[in-house]
Amino acid sequence: MNIIWLCLPAALLITSALSVQMTDIRNLRVFPGFNQSIAGVMLVTSLNELNQPKYAFNASEARRLCWSLGLNIASKAQVQKALSRGLETCRFGWIDEHFAVIPRINPIPSCGRNKSGLVPWRASVKQKFDVFCFNETGE
Ligand SMILES: *[C@@H]1O[C@H](CO)[C@@H](O)[C@H](O)[C@H]1NC(C)=O
Ligand SMILES: *[C@@H]1O[C@H](CO)[C@@H](O)[C@H](O)[C@H]1NC(C)=O
Ligand SMILES: *[C@@H]1O[C@H](CO)[C@@H](O)[C@H](O)[C@H]1NC(C)=O
Ligand SMILES: *[C@@H]1O[C@H](CO)[C@@H](O)[C@H](O)[C@H]1NC(C)=O
Repeated sequence: MNIIWLCLPAALLITSALSVQMTDIRNLRVFPGFNQSIAGVMLVTSLNELNQPKYAFNASEARRLCWSLGLNIASKAQVQKALSRGLETCRFGWIDEHFAVIPRINPIPSCGRNKSGLVPWRASVKQKFDVFCFNETGE
């Protein structure tokens, strides 16, 4: 009896994690690519029905999405290191510290307000962005 009560929640968790991964992966774009990273860091973007990128994750959904891919949400230090190794995006992503960043090497007005470095956006946790995930075995 005890064993059943202990195993059931675990089984449900595993099933739901797998189904999230199965259903969502076709609607996701990963930069620099699926199973790829720069210094372990990748940007995960949701795609709408027309396959166009769409900011879709609030702060807690962002964290959960990385978990569903078997990864963790990246920290500021991890994205900073990836930036120093050449990671540059034109989209904001949530990081572990509950704000969004855009890593910029070249300042251009249409990406990150023409700034370079790790450009922060201290938005409400309800705001939707992409997410930076971290793969520690891919570092
Ligand atoms: C990513 O790696 C996993 C596990 O090795 C594999 O099952 C999956 O097909 C890979 N995905 C892509 C898009 O290459
Ligand atoms: C994590 O990195 C390892 C090693 O590079 C790679 O084999 C694996 O596919 C990566 N996983 C994801 C989900 O990107
Ligand atoms: C963007 O930044 C660059 C370098 O910091 C500067 O030279 C340029 O004038 C800026 N452009 C705009 C449109 O603000
Ligand atoms: C994020 O979205 C989830 C799912 O829609 C929702 O349950 C949660 O309350 C939202 N969190 C915030 C901070 O808006």
